[in-house]
Amino acid sequence: MLELTGADVTGLLGKVDLVDVVREVFLAHANDRTVLPEESCLRWTNDQGESCRSLNMPGLVEIDGRRTAGTKIINASLGNPDRGLPRAGGIVLLFDVTTARLVCSMDAAHISAGRTAAVSVLAAELLWARPARSIGVVGAGALAEAHLDLALRRWPSVREVRLHDQVSERAVRLAERLGDTYRTVAFDVASSAERAVRDTELIIPVTTTTTGYIPADWIAPGTVTVNVSLDDLLPDAFSGADKVIVDDWSLVAADTTRLLGRMHRSGDVLPPPRHRTPADAGRPAPAVEVAAELCDLISGAATGRRSADERIVVNPFGMSLHDVAVAGKLYHDHLGGQDQPGRQDHLEPHDQGH
Ligand SMILES: NC(=O)c1ccc[n+]([C@@H]2O[C@H](COP(=O)([O-])OP(=O)(O)OC[C@H]3O[C@@H](n4cnc5c(N)ncnc54)[C@H](O)[C@@H]3O)[C@@H](O)[C@H]2O)c1
Repeated sequence: MLELTGADVTGLLGKVDLVDVVREVFLAHANDRTVLPEESCLRWTNDQGESCRSLNMPGLVEIDGRRTAGTKIINASLGNPDRGLPRAGGIVLLFDVTTARLVCSMDAAHISAGRTAAVSVLAAELLWARPARSIGVVGAGALAEAHLDLALRRWPSVREVRLHDQVSERAVRLAERLGDTYRTVAFDVASSAERAVRDTELIIPVTTTTTGYIPADWIAPGTVTVNVSLDDLLPDAFSGADKVIVDDWSLVAADTTRLLGRMHRSGDVLPPPRHRTPADAGRPAPAVEVAAELCDLISGAATGRRSADERIVVNPFGMSLHDVAVAGKLYHDHLGGQDQPGRQDHLEPHDQGH
C-alpha cells in the first residue's frame, strides 16, 4: 500500500483545484452517483478531562466514469494544541474498487481542511449577493487558515478580514502570517466574536465550541454565514435566516450532537423539499425550513439567493465524499493509480445517493 505523509500531500494538493473537485462531487451526489453511509463517531474523555473523538467517514463517488472508494478516519483531542500538537489528525484510505483492498493511505489533515474550505468557498460563491469585501472569522486554527488562504487567493474583492480567537495570540499570529501574503487586505484582530462578525458580508465560525454564541441580530441583511464548526450559532440565527442550506440532509438528520440535528429531533426543522415525507406536509410550520442541499443549487434543481437582503445560513456537516474524491484525484491523476471503469449498476440500490 502506498503511504503519503502530510508533506507529500501538501505538495500534491497545490496541483489540484479543490473547488472544482468538490463541485464535481456535489454534481455526482445530485445524480445519485455516490454512496454516502452515516459516519460513525467514537467519543471519550481522556485522563486529563479533555474531550477526544474518532470519526470514521466512508464514501464512494463516481466522477467522469471513474469510481473512487475510501474512508477518512480523523481523530481529535481538545488538549492537543496545549501539547504543541494539531488538535485533529488522521488518514484517508483509498480502496481498490474491484478487489476492495486498501491501495493508499494519505495523511488527512490538509485534505480535510482543504476540502472543507473549498465547500465553504463554493457555497459563498453560489449564495452571496456580490463578491465579498469583508469576512468575519471566529477561531484562528487550521481551518481558519485553510479558509482564508483559499478565499483570499480566489477573491480579489476582499478588503477586510476580521479575526477573533479566544486565545488572542492565535488570531494575531494568523493575521500576521496572512498579512505577509495578502498585502491589499486589512486584517483586524477583533477583541470579541461580535466585533469579528457584525456587519461583515461573509461569516465563518471555525472554533471548537459546543456552546452557541452568535445570535440572529449580529448577522446583517445580505450576509452568508457558513457554519463550519456547527455549534456556534444560536437557534434564532437559524430561525431568523431567510434561507438555510445544508450539504447533505441525511447526515444532519442522523446527527444527535450538533445544533441543527438537535433542532430537527425536537421537531423544529423541516427537511429540504426532496426529503420531506407526507407527515411533514401535515404539521405546523417549524422554526427552520431547510431550503435545499448544496448539490441542488449546483445541479440547478433549487434556486439560491432571491434578493440582495436575504440572510443565508449554510450548515456544512462535512461529507466523506469530498475527502475521498480529493485523495482519489491525487492518487489517480498525480501518483499513477489505476483507473477502474465506473458503472452505475455497481452501486447498491438501497445505498445510492442521499
Ligand atoms: N463542517 C466540516 O466539514 C468541518 C470539517 C473539518 C473541521 N470542522 C470543524 O472546524 C472547527 C475548527 O477546526 P480546526 O482544525 O481549525 O481547530 P483548531 O483547534 O486548529 O482551531 C480552533 C480555534 O478556535 C478557537 N476557539 C475555540 N472556541 C472558541 C470560541 N468560543 N471563541 C473563539 N475562539 C474559539 C481555539 O482557541 C482555536 O484557536 C472544529 O470544530 C472542527 O470540528 C468542520
